[in-house]
Amino acid sequence: MVTSGMDSELSGRVAIVTGGASGIGAASVALLEGAGATVVVADLLGANDGPGRFVAHDVASEESWKALLADVLGCEGRLDIMVNNAGISGGSGNIETTTVENWQQVQAINSEGVFLGCKYAIEGMKKTGPGKPAAKGSIVNISSVAGLIGGAGPTAYTASKGAVRLLSKSVALYCAEKKYDIRCNSVHPGGVDTAIFNPLWQAVGHDEGKAFIGARHPIGRMSEASELGEVVLFLASDRSSFVTGAEIVADGAVTSGLMRKSLLAPS
Ligand SMILES: NC(=O)c1ccc[n+]([C@@H]2O[C@H](COP(=O)([O-])OP(=O)(O)OC[C@H]3O[C@@H](n4cnc5c(N)ncnc54)[C@H](O)[C@@H]3O)[C@@H](O)[C@H]2O)c1
Repeated sequence: MVTSGMDSELSGRVAIVTGGASGIGAASVALLEGAGATVVVADLLGANDGPGRFVAHDVASEESWKALLADVLGCEGRLDIMVNNAGISGGSGNIETTTVENWQQVQAINSEGVFLGCKYAIEGMKKTGPGKPAAKGSIVNISSVAGLIGGAGPTAYTASKGAVRLLSKSVALYCAEKKYDIRCNSVHPGGVDTAIFNPLWQAVGHDEGKAFIGARHPIGRMSEASELGEVVLFLASDRSSFVTGAEIVADGAVTSGLMRKSLLAPS
């Protein structure tokens, strides 16, 4: 377990983590809360026993975003940090096999969900105050190595993650132009040992599957969710105060050179 060693760095700040009930999101919730933030876990999954206050939420529904923002501003009174993490793999379909329904579902959650997350994050951060310290806004969007380099598949996932990369830069530039104190960055993980790989774990076993995917990383292993949580914590905190519009790659060097094997579509 990687530890932050920072206990109250985010005291007084309020964070929303979408998809915070599992994997990278749950690790981020624990680290943000450990650093002193008040964290809202916004997820489709039922409430868990983990840290953070759970609010049922569907990132693909604008009505759900309106309700979430009203809840957080009503209960917590402010919003400083938005981690747009919720996502699905949507299977391994290629351009010939991906159906329109599959494409639309993946874009609705992975791409449109992040668009809505950025839109309502800015609204919430701007509504923080008066009478309270202004928000120190940080939006962290979880993309993927699949948002940096192409692959023959999965087509819908790759396209959705590419959209998140440039959406994040657009939001960063817009907030800078408007002189909002809101930064926006994207994170690009390689393979992380989470439930998103459940179909593979079920097919070949967790340890075998983890070793298989790990061997496709130059570093020789998959990441643990906490290692990505540390990246989220850095981007959420003032330690990254000059970092905006950036793409932070945490991929065990997968994108550092030619990929001789596909990471995302094992054959
Ligand atoms: N695990 C990896 O190897 C990896 C690599 C690159 C990028 N990512 C990205 O990281 C993010 C987190 O994935 P993870 O690996 O922790 O997976 P995970 O399956 O462990 O967690 C995803 C969470 O998102 C939630 N979610 C799904 N659809 C939702 C919706 N419509 N509204 C609200 N919540 C929803 C799920 O309930 C779940 O709690 C995803 O965006 C994923 O694409 C993961």
